[in-house]
Amino acid sequence: MADAELRRPEPATAAGPPAEPLDPARLAEGGLRLEVDGAVATVTLARPERRNAMTFATWRGLAAIGRSLPPEVRVVVLRGDGPSFSAGIDLSMFSGGGGEGFPSGEDDEAGDRFIAELQEGYTWLRRPEIVTVAAVHGHAIGGGFQLALACDIRIAADDTRFCMKEPALGLVPDLTGTKPLVEIVGVNRALELCLTARTVDAAEAARLGLVERVVPAGGLDEAVAALTAELLAVNAGAAVATKRLLLEAPQNTLDEQRAAERREQLGRLRELSAALRG
Ligand code: ACO
Repeated sequence: MADAELRRPEPATAAGPPAEPLDPARLAEGGLRLEVDGAVATVTLARPERRNAMTFATWRGLAAIGRSLPPEVRVVVLRGDGPSFSAGIDLSMFSGGGGEGFPSGEDDEAGDRFIAELQEGYTWLRRPEIVTVAAVHGHAIGGGFQLALACDIRIAADDTRFCMKEPALGLVPDLTGTKPLVEIVGVNRALELCLTARTVDAAEAARLGLVERVVPAGGLDEAVAALTAELLAVNAGAAVATKRLLLEAPQNTLDEQRAAERREQLGRLRELSAALRG
């Protein structure tokens, strides 16, 4: 029997890594707001006057939120205040705004560490202990589009416009967006979208699989609340184990995935029979 078949899954509870205290000043600096209500955390991009444009502080603030989430949180909703989800990187940063420069690219190690730290703002959204929902409206551009792509489920108002703008600015998308983009639409469509930096409206996004649900613009909050209730109605342990299983699937062979299914199911059966025994 292969090692993979013998390995037990982590206990399938909703508890994630230990929470770190959150510095409110850090959130405000990044134009972020966090509300936690029981099992639901809502992260709001809150610089509507700049269409929720993002700075280094925003990405570091998102990473800090990921480290601070209480273990009882099962669903995390990301949303934007004002007319847009996010207009992507704050363009004033290219002319020295925000007080911190970009790495020059001359010191590879330092530059790599710098970008990796910013990417942490997005990677925690894949943790199996939580389901992440991007509630998107208006515009989701560049880093904003990538933030939506980092989430498990995208629910979009019918006025949403997506755009992967980075190549038009001489950059590449580096906030973890290229992998989900290619997994969803394939390499060729991803190339076409990125290298033309064209806009994709909500209807096309739904056709391409870039969003799971499209709702009328005025009904986004209500639709997100309904989706959240659906997600919370599912057994918490099964949700964690299923997300872990589904995240493994694209990299696994069929045999590896069958083994993973058996492993996770045995974990579920152990937990369910322990619960029955009281
Ligand atoms: N960075 C900094 N400020 C911004 C940004 C941004 N990315 N986007 C909008 N703003 C500011 C505008 O300068 C404007 O400020 P002002 O009121 O002082 O003039 C205010 O937000 C409102 O913007 P408008 O353009 O008036 O709003 P509108 O709703 O008409 O358009 C849109 C919104 C489409 C998002 C437009 O602002 C836009 O195209 N922004 C730039 C998007 C962009 O190129 N982002 C970079 C992506 S690449 C990456 O993320 C790595």
